Amino acid sequence: MHTYGQLAAGDSLISYAGRRWAAMDSHTYTLNPYCGRVVPPRSVLHRRLPHAWRLQRGAGRGYPESAFKIATFDRWLIVVSGRRMVQELRKRPVDELSGPLGFQENFQIKYVLEPAVLSDRYHGEVAKEKLLKKVSTLLPNIIDEVFVAVDDNVPIGGGEWNSVHITSLMSKILARASNRAFVGLPLGRNEEFLKLAVGFAMHFAKGAGVLRLVPNFMKSFLAPFVSNGKDDISRAVPYLRPIIEERTRAAAKLGEAWSDKPNDFLQSLLDRAIPKGESVSLVTQRLFMFNFAAIGTSSSAKNPGLAASLREEAHTCISANGWTGAALGSMWKLDSVLRETLRYYGVGLVSMTRKVLKDVTLHDGTRLPAGTLVSANAYSMHHDGALLEDAGKFDPLRYARMRSVEGQGLKHQFAVTSPDYIPFGHGPRACPGRFLASYTLKAVLAYILLRYDLKLAGDGARPQSAYVSLAVVPARDGRVLFKKREVLVRLGMGSELSDGVE
Ligand code: HEM
Repeated sequence: MHTYGQLAAGDSLISYAGRRWAAMDSHTYTLNPYCGRVVPPRSVLHRRLPHAWRLQRGAGRGYPESAFKIATFDRWLIVVSGRRMVQELRKRPVDELSGPLGFQENFQIKYVLEPAVLSDRYHGEVAKEKLLKKVSTLLPNIIDEVFVAVDDNVPIGGGEWNSVHITSLMSKILARASNRAFVGLPLGRNEEFLKLAVGFAMHFAKGAGVLRLVPNFMKSFLAPFVSNGKDDISRAVPYLRPIIEERTRAAAKLGEAWSDKPNDFLQSLLDRAIPKGESVSLVTQRLFMFNFAAIGTSSSAKNPGLAASLREEAHTCISANGWTGAALGSMWKLDSVLRETLRYYGVGLVSMTRKVLKDVTLHDGTRLPAGTLVSANAYSMHHDGALLEDAGKFDPLRYARMRSVEGQGLKHQFAVTSPDYIPFGHGPRACPGRFLASYTLKAVLAYILLRYDLKLAGDGARPQSAYVSLAVVPARDGRVLFKKREVLVRLGMGSELSDGVE
């Protein structure tokens, strides 16, 4: 599962680089068809090349419709490649390949969350209901929050270029937008609470990365030292307790007659948690899982021509429809830049991780033994020239062009998955937050483009992506220069601004 990812506007929404993962992440792989051995600890030490290198240049490309495996310290990860294999992951029943258990194991969740959260995953159902069925009801508040969060966080110096640390800016804005939907106001703007929510998302992922390197028998002992996730949760409880207590009283007193019942994720959780008598801590743990899914990083524009064209598109769409879902949905160019960024840079080298619950044999005879994890090789498929023309090139407007062909308008959208576009997974378990992510990212980027001129800091080169194990990690030090635009044009929906095109 992932975050808003390394997404942004301009000719390249930049996913940032950092350092390359080194020796700790050394692994070996064995080719198809036999995937059933127990991990020999020795194999971990054999080859000291990172996963990223193998998946990009080695096994993934050499075996496009096949499977190979990577040894981690505690298990094998089987990686399958190609459309047909993706369809197999999608179609296998949950009692054979489990998404939730794959996620739990991949992120070592049992060392951070209490067993009750894992055994009764109703927060997953709440997420799906809010994100798939009721996303349009969340939009007005989210768009409103985007305006305020951008204004609060981008420094405005009269006519000067201001250098901004882009990953931290985007994570603050996205934390604000997401938590407006998760807990509403005023808590969704409380800086201390937001720090804990963002901190949890980071600590949770980092802690899992370290625990995966530790032998199973040591994990329980080491978990408190390598992950601050539990600590973030206990520090967030005092912020949520008074709100939960007040809502519990209101529910008891008003019942069905509660006319101004909040429309946020917290309330949907409470509708289930209160009858079960769940503690504030358990509700906080479930709520923070949403934060983990939603908060991430983004980036910015480097090509002035493209930025101008995206700005013009945003202006046209918002002039016609205001700051609405319809306006954001009609921004095909911006949508294309987002989709191309997720395809080309991505947020992970693999996707659709599943835990194998029963021995499974795939169509080519590959055996997936019970107990292993299996993932789809997203990177190699997204860069396969047989599936997409010029797949090795970052072409920000490619999908806008593809959609303009008659009958193709609905295909190739940022949030539409397919067997060869899997950053959000594919099929019934595909990310339910992808529509919300699409709307929110477009609102943030359109607003920033209309309000600011942008350029990359330093020599103007795009920072290189880094690969930490199987994750694509943004550069820690990526900076973008912002300058407030001078021409003001009023654009719809309650905003006191907005800057428009010159
Ligand atoms: C660019 C942003 C995002 C990316 C790339 C992303 C990617 C993913 C992926 C790959 C999965 C697993 C799919 C599978 O196993 O087949 C997933 C699951 C999930 N995502 Fe996202 N996601 C994003 C944003 C969001 C947002 C904003 C939310 C909102 C809270 C969200 C909520 C979830 C949830 C609840 C699941 C679990 C679904 C289940 O268990 O069935 N995601 N996401």
